[in-house]
Amino acid sequence: MNPEKISQILANYETDQSSIISILQDIQEALGYLPKEAILQVSREMNIPLSRVLSLATFFNAFSLEPKGKHPIHVCLGTACHVRGAQLVLEKLERELNIKSGETTEDKEFSLDEVHCVGCCGLAPVVMIGEDVYGKISQAKVPGVLKKYKEGRRKEEKDAKTHT
Ligand code: FES
Repeated sequence: MNPEKISQILANYETDQSSIISILQDIQEALGYLPKEAILQVSREMNIPLSRVLSLATFFNAFSLEPKGKHPIHVCLGTACHVRGAQLVLEKLERELNIKSGETTEDKEFSLDEVHCVGCCGLAPVVMIGEDVYGKISQAKVPGVLKKYKEGRRKEEKDAKTHT
């Protein structure tokens, strides 16, 4: 965590309480999550009680207090996806990655989260991995989809070895 980075973000805003959500959004965007130290710094520098900053950071789904994986997976559990078996897809992902929804794999490659409608209900059930959208996904397709990202990592490791 870089305290100067947080100070730069804070400097872009008026330090009144109305800016707090925008500030937390900017930190989340810059760091990928809201580290504890960043929340403490915001509370201190904006003179807002820590409990208030924490309650905002935990209230909104868009904020995460944990670092997310290199490939953030979002499983849509909105109505259209739910009725087409999204819950089963989520459970399959949990088994394949050996994590629960809301968690990140130990190697920090994947994180798994639920969302409620990503706006392409015609493709239900939908899973997003980073910016990639997988429509009409099923339990059976999950291993193949994950393999693509796992192979990407193996290739990166191989390339790194080749170049050293
Ligand atoms: S409910 Fe899943 S995309 Fe709309």
